[in-house]
Amino acid sequence: MNNSTLDGRVAIVTGGARGIGAAIARTLAADGARVAITGLGGDAAAGAKLAGEIGADRCRFYESDVGDFDGCTGLVGSVLRDLDHLDILVNNAGITRDHTVRKLTVQDWLDVIKTNLNGPFFMIKAVLDHMIERGYGRIVSMSSVIAHTGNVGQANYAASKAGLLGLTKSVALETASRGITANCVAPGFIDTDMVAAMPAAAKEASLAHVPEHRLGKPDEIARVVRFLVDENASFITGTVVNVNGGLYM
Ligand SMILES: NC(=O)c1ccc[n+]([C@@H]2O[C@H](COP(=O)([O-])OP(=O)(O)OC[C@H]3O[C@@H](n4cnc5c(N)ncnc54)[C@H](O)[C@@H]3O)[C@@H](O)[C@H]2O)c1
Repeated sequence: MNNSTLDGRVAIVTGGARGIGAAIARTLAADGARVAITGLGGDAAAGAKLAGEIGADRCRFYESDVGDFDGCTGLVGSVLRDLDHLDILVNNAGITRDHTVRKLTVQDWLDVIKTNLNGPFFMIKAVLDHMIERGYGRIVSMSSVIAHTGNVGQANYAASKAGLLGLTKSVALETASRGITANCVAPGFIDTDMVAAMPAAAKEASLAHVPEHRLGKPDEIARVVRFLVDENASFITGTVVNVNGGLYM
């Protein structure tokens, strides 16, 4: 067994200013990591507040759009300059643009694929040379229960989150001999702004299928991410951990 704290580890958590990403940032920082949280311009205030709460020596907000490849490489360059190295990438940023396929516009489709699938690919591509050079890396990408089940009104989201599973397995295979693991976490319905934005009837209908009849908490996702990014989780790669209260088995 190796040291199971995150002392000396550096992490990027995309979309880390609020919701699940903020819980992950808090959890990793509490266990010793220095965490770069990213987000869009509108996340800057929440990001700065979270960084202040965690402590400037442990957390810093970077404005960066995961859908922009040059932005992703620029972000990784800045983090390496500021924090010296990088051990952990959490691809957490994600969006929804919900409509049934008949009403879904091409732009709704492209927007969701750009953030939810291009984004993780761009970030993985931006960090991989560095991780391979160091012979160490932990990559966790936030999929969704919807990747497995599909959902009415979420064809774009389901496709992006299912795509992440294939991307992750391929990265896992390509990097397995380099000390790098790549895994997905697939949350069920979690109590964040994303779920708060769902129509009440849709939320009620979804909850009816959760055996515990409750939303999950961001912390319940963060603890699983924390487990997967541990140095000792070295034999877990290319898998997806379902964290959904029994909604999908
Ligand atoms: N909340 C849930 O029930 C649930 C369930 C399954 C999966 N997920 C996934 O978990 C992740 C986090 O979800 P959440 O509920 O915390 O969402 P959220 O909407 O509360 O937070 C997402 C954060 O990502 C940021 N973001 C959006 N687009 C971005 C971009 N292009 N570049 C950088 N940052 C961007 C947002 O501004 C926001 O700060 C998402 O990938 C989501 O799809 C959430």
